[in-house]
This record gives sequence, C-alpha cells and structure tokens, in this order.
Amino acid sequence: MFAFLRPRIFLALVSSLPAAFAAESAPREVVPLTEGWRFHRDDPETVGADLSREALRPWLLPQTNEFSNYSPSPHARPSGEEPGSKLAAAQPGYDDSAWRKLDLPHDWGIEGPFDQALPGETAKLPWHGVAWYRKTFALPATDAGRRLLLEIDGAMSHSAVWLNGRFVGGWPYGYTSFRLDLTPYAKPGADNTLAIRLDNPKESSRWYPGGGLYRQVRLVKTGPVHLEPWSTFITTPAVSAESAIVDVRVEVANREEKAAKVAVRVALHPMDEAGKPSPDPVATSKPESFDVRPGQPRQTSFSFTVASPRLWDLATPHRYVAVATVERDGKVIDRLETPFGIRSLSVDPERGLILNGRPVRIDGVCQHHDLGALGAAVHPAALERQVRILRDMGVNSIRTSHNPPAPELLEICDRLGVLVMVEAFDAWALRKKRNDYSVDFPWWHEADLRAMIRRDRNHPSVVMWSIGNEIVEQRDSVGWRVAARLAGITREEDRTRPITAGFNHVWSGYNGFESAIDILGYNYKPQEYPAFHARHPRIPLLGSETASTISSRGEYFFPVSNKKDQGRSDFQMSSYDLYTPGWATTPDTEFKAQDDNPYVLGEYVWTGFDYLGEPTPYNDDATNVLNYTDPAERERAAKELAELGKIRVPSRSSYFGIVDLAGFPKDRYYLYQARWRPELPMAHLLPHWTWPGREGETTPVHLYTSGDEAELFLNGQSLGRKKRGPRDYRLRWDDVKYKPGELRAVAYKNGQPWAESVQRTAGPAAALKLVPESATLRADGKDLAFVTLRVEDAAGNLVPRAKLPVKFSVTGPARILATDNGDATDHVVFPSPERKTFNGLALAIVRAESGASGEIVVTAESEGLPVGRMVVPLK
Ligand code: GAL
Repeated sequence: MFAFLRPRIFLALVSSLPAAFAAESAPREVVPLTEGWRFHRDDPETVGADLSREALRPWLLPQTNEFSNYSPSPHARPSGEEPGSKLAAAQPGYDDSAWRKLDLPHDWGIEGPFDQALPGETAKLPWHGVAWYRKTFALPATDAGRRLLLEIDGAMSHSAVWLNGRFVGGWPYGYTSFRLDLTPYAKPGADNTLAIRLDNPKESSRWYPGGGLYRQVRLVKTGPVHLEPWSTFITTPAVSAESAIVDVRVEVANREEKAAKVAVRVALHPMDEAGKPSPDPVATSKPESFDVRPGQPRQTSFSFTVASPRLWDLATPHRYVAVATVERDGKVIDRLETPFGIRSLSVDPERGLILNGRPVRIDGVCQHHDLGALGAAVHPAALERQVRILRDMGVNSIRTSHNPPAPELLEICDRLGVLVMVEAFDAWALRKKRNDYSVDFPWWHEADLRAMIRRDRNHPSVVMWSIGNEIVEQRDSVGWRVAARLAGITREEDRTRPITAGFNHVWSGYNGFESAIDILGYNYKPQEYPAFHARHPRIPLLGSETASTISSRGEYFFPVSNKKDQGRSDFQMSSYDLYTPGWATTPDTEFKAQDDNPYVLGEYVWTGFDYLGEPTPYNDDATNVLNYTDPAERERAAKELAELGKIRVPSRSSYFGIVDLAGFPKDRYYLYQARWRPELPMAHLLPHWTWPGREGETTPVHLYTSGDEAELFLNGQSLGRKKRGPRDYRLRWDDVKYKPGELRAVAYKNGQPWAESVQRTAGPAAALKLVPESATLRADGKDLAFVTLRVEDAAGNLVPRAKLPVKFSVTGPARILATDNGDATDHVVFPSPERKTFNGLALAIVRAESGASGEIVVTAESEGLPVGRMVVPLK
C-alpha cells in the first residue's frame, strides 16, 4: 500500500498511437474500418434467447484470460454450437443491400426523435435496444499467415461479433477498448464479412450513453511474431532539468509453431508540437536478442538516460515517441511507435499534486463523453473544441466521469497540456440502475480495469486512476475490500500513478476505503475537509466532484433569492449561479473551502459542459412547476395538470454545465476564469441589460473579475465602488433599479485599472450574424466548422432574449451535421438544419467533403431579417 509519508515519485508516461514516420515498409499495417457499413435498427430476424447477456457470457469470457492474474484455470471456448450460427444476418451471403449505408463512428440514438415518454435522465432519446452493423472487405492473399486483429475503441454495448458467419467474440462494457483475433476466421484472398450486433438494455445508464459503433474500429495486421502495444510500458523514474531516466518495457509474442530468434531495439525521438517525430533520435538502445517460444510472450526492457530532457508540463507539453523494432534474420518484422512524455509526478498530503517538482492545484472539471448535438459518436474536432474552450477558462484537468474515455481525448490532452483523471466505473457489484454495469461486474471488472490501464498508461496527461464514482458499496462495512481488490489490480498494471475514487458518503473517509486508495476523493463535501485532514494528515484529499450549480445560459429570474433551491422557472434555471440541488453548493462555497484548506489537491467541478440526460432539477414529471413566467405557458401547464394530474417535463439535457450543450459559455464560465486565470485581465457582468417592462424594478448585478475591486456605472452614473473581501469571489450590487441604457463595470487590480465589462440594452433584432470559430476548414472529411449565429440589433448588440426560428443551409462541398442552441428543453432533433435561437444564439456544425477545395457558404434565414451569410475557405 502507498503510505504518503514522503512525497512519492510517480513515473512518467504515454500511448500507442501508430504515427508512421519512417520510410521503410511497414510490417505492421493499420487499416481503418470506418467507411461503407450497413446498419439495421433492431434484429432483422427472430433471435430468441441465444444472444442474451447470459447466453453469450461463456463465449466471451475467454477474452478475459489475458487480463486475469488470478483465475486458477483459464476460460475455454465452449464446444457447442456457436451463438447466432443459424442467423442469416451473421452470414456472409446475407443480402443487406436494403440496410442503411453509413460511415463510423456512429451513434444511433442521437438521430432521435426525442420522445416525451422516454426518461429525461437518458435524454429522451432512443439509444436503447438492438442494432446490427455489417461490412464486407477484401483481404489480399498476402495476408495469409499474418495475425489479423480487430480493434474497437468502444461499442455501445454488449457487442457480439461474427466474421464470415463464425462467432468471434464481443465485449459487454460499452466504454472499454477491446481487440478480437480474427485470424482463425479470416479468408485471405477473398471478401470477408463482419457482422456486429449491439444491445443496449433499458435502465442501464444514469446519463445518455449513445448506441452503436461510436468510436474507431480498425484492423491491425502484423506478422505472427510481433510486438504487443498494450504491453508496452514507458516510465520515467528519475527526472530533472539535467537528465531523465526513461524505461521502456516491450513484449514480443510468437504465434508460430516454433521458437523465433529475434533482436529488439528501441529509439527515442522528440516530437514537435504538431506531433511529428524528429528523424534524429535522442537515444538508441543496443539490440536485445532472445528466443520467443510459441504462446509464451517475452518481455524485455531498456533503460535510457536523456540529457536535458524537454519535460511534459502544462504550458510546455513536450512529447517524445519510442520506436520499438523487432528484427529476425536481419529483417525488421515489426515496428511500433509509442508516444510518451517525460515528467515526474508525486502527491503530497500537504502540498498536493506535484508535477515536475512544482505543486499544481487541480482546477478541473468532470466531463461526460457525449459531444452534445453530435451525441456519443467520437469526433476529434469536437472533443478538441471542448478541451480548448475549457482550457481558455483555466481548466488544467479533466475527470472522465464515469468511464474510460475515447483514446482521442488523451491524445488531445497530451498535446494541449491538460491533466486527466481516468475513471473506470459508476457501479461495482451493487447496482444503481436495474441493468447497469453491476450485472457484468463479477465477470468483467478485472478485464475492464486492466484494459483501461494498459491502453492509457503511457499518456503523460493521465495523472490518476479512479476506480469508481459514488459506488453503492461505500455504505457497506466490507465494501472497502472491493476497493482494495480494484486498487491492487490497478497497482499491478501501473505503480506510477495514484489511485482515487469519488465518495459521496462521509463515512468512506473512515470505514476502510480511505486506506484502500491513495487519494481520498470527496464528492460535495467541502465542509468535511478539515475533519478528514485532521484525522488522516497523511492521506491526500481531493474535491473529486464539486459545486453542481445549475443554470441556463441567458436566463435570469426575479426576485433574486440567495436560497439554493430557488431560481426555477420555465424548466430553466436562473443564471445568477446561486442555485443547486440539495446536496450541492455554489462555486463560491467550494472556493472558500479550498482556500481555507490549502492541502486539498483541488477540485473537479460538476460539470465543464452540459451533457445529454440528467436534467436535474427537472428529472421527473412533476406538479410543482407552475411558476411559468409566460402567462400563456402557465395556462397550458395548468390545463395539463388538470388533465393528467402532472405536467410533462420536457427537459432532456443537463443544467450543470459551466458551458452549455452547444459550447456557449454561461456566466459561470467567467466566475471560474476569474479564479483559475488570475493573471488574465477580465471582467464579466450579469445579467444582460434588456428588460423591457422591468423599468424601476430591482435587478441585482453581479461581476466576475480577476481584479480585486470594481466600480459600476449605469448610464454613466456611479452605483458604487466595491472591493473583494478575503473570501469574496464575486462583487454584487443587489439593489440596482433597472433603467435601459448602458451598464458598465470598471475593474481594478492593486488600484490600477484592470478590465471592463459592458452590457447594453439591445433594440429589436436586425441581423443574423454568423461567426466561425476558426478561419478555415480542413476538407479531410473529419474537421468540423462550428458556426455561431448571433441575433443582433442594428448596433451589433446581442439580442439576449431572441428565440427566433432559423434555417441554416450550406452551399458547396459540405453539409450540416447538426445544430444546437443550448436549450435543455428543445425537442427538435439535432441533425435538423432548422433551429430556434435560444437567448440570441444558435450553432451549426458543418463538415466538408474529403478532398474538396475552394470554399463553402453557410447561410442562416429567419423571416423578416436579412439573410446571414458566411464564407469558409477550405484547405
Ligand atoms: C453526483 C454523481 C454525478 C451526477 C451529479 C449531479 O452525485 O456522481 O454522476 O449525478 O451527482 O449532481
């Protein structure tokens, strides 16, 4: 067990993304299986009980053998009839021409439609149920004798895979990357047909999980003697400015019948910012020669000293790549590139997380995996946009709540210098939902946990592993034993990073859990920090989930109350950032607890972005929400209440986000930015200042600023200068009487002017202004243009309450993938080009055709306004 008596050095890290930069012919080939799939929702024929979780289990369990350290006898593939052997849809000759044609990644749920009758908790979207994917592809005759591996970065969920009608395997947990050996079933020199069935049980998730082959799928071809990417482990046990030790462990496997004599070597190359490795290595090994026997993979390790290493750090995320080669009879038979970073990492119960010798407070956010209007389907451009928006706010860390992430997220965080807590589970053996991971946990937890760590342990961005979130076992007096087992598995795979978990029971700090893990994570327990630290001064403590403040961008309700259960109307939440569910707190309360208890490692706010599902506080159909601001709405709801005895709640996505679902910052963004980027001169006033009908009424004004003092002016008249007290995180003028015009705040720092913020009363809508987030769009079939539509008045002010129906269109070689507006109650399907603006804004997500050139034109139309138009050059 870890005892944090002294700061402990954790080693540095990496990943196995092949990035071919060598000119020599590649003995390892990676073929993306992305295009030209056929898709069918539901079973196309009667399946019976044969493909149930239980029936498939004995056929899938042999896949856990390579992850099992304790099983007395490995699982053998059953000898009976293979699952699905009688199903036509699993056979190569099956006529799937009527099935829908599509490319991956694909999430079938996000297409909708929203269904009012479905639970808001999982977004009122049809992600549950069964679907099939099929793809036929040719394998050249030269593939005979090669090992063919199918790699799936995540299939949602309970996949079953056939190749050429033979059952290959599958994986239950939708967030785990897995590999299936296709070699025994493949037909080199012929067409081969993959058939994949997925099955999402209802009541299996507390948020929107998505459905389908929603992450990358690829075929990896190697020779029979080859390197194992997930066995590669790179650590940096000693790091200083002068030199670093880099240890590289690799594994060679042999699937031939006789032992193979091989020579293995490794070279380390620096990478530039774009991820391009330099041709000149900084270190090269001598070859290690040994025999590899069939079925007995052999590991070997190399140790390097790198002089003047370029360290991976937040502001300077330098990376290297380790290139391992295997030679046989003087010929290179495999070659693997593993990106990594050189850094040191330790945790100290007083000083917190120490990166390269320097304490780093965790200014973090929890993120679910969905990408808003794009759903769960992984789009690296959308993921990178999320990370960039968060980083601009000052975020230095992301918690992948509550499951393993897409590998692309880690590549982005490695490249941009963002720390990551990778989390494994939301449930262990005791369930939160009837059909959740608890059903699979007894058979699969070891494989899922080891697979997560083996895939991700070489990423420098990954700084801790979380074995679970608010798991039900916390309440058990013996629950800590499960924690100890999971922590033990984690340590066997990686002793270089601390282990944590998110606990929402105070008791977990004292009932054994606290000694099973390395960092105690409390969810929503700022008041408990002093007691825990006094009792366990040597156990590092983290706010693993904090705040859970709820707000809707651009909504403000009056009178403004300081009571946290207020601020509700119209199925929206007031944006004064004072409102939370019962268990939660405002950002300010958590800031104070962190400042009062500086040994706390930092916090992960719930959440960075809004996400699909969990629309707290509007989770259920309810009768207590007649407080509509619009009299017509109130009348409609009262009628519904009289008829149904309840009001049907439309909410389908969260209000927790600091940034809304479309990626537009809410006011809270600036509250966090003021704290997390204290050197950035910034000030942000709220609310907006367009309140016809509220003349003379009290309209409180709040200011978020990195300054320490500010003066507020209304139409040039001072409403007073205020200074931040020691634990004040916002400035408030609570008695302002609304008068149209200009509200201006001038912020100061140390007595010097520092930043300004202005809100002006807007006139009627006069223009549809389209604003791109980047100047050009790569026509590679992957890059995305995020185009914001602003409804502006004649003077260019945002019309802050505008809810106008808009139709987006695009001319040129591109199409609109989705639109959004950040409104958690909008039931227009995301792929629709028609979208109402929500409080002045809407978003269109556009993708250009691969290989196109020239430019595209995006337009937005709304009746009575001139057409908005924007040209995006392609590159
Ligand atoms: C936590 C939980 C999260 C989310 C959050 C909402 O208890 O870990 O998944 O449900 O509450 O406040």
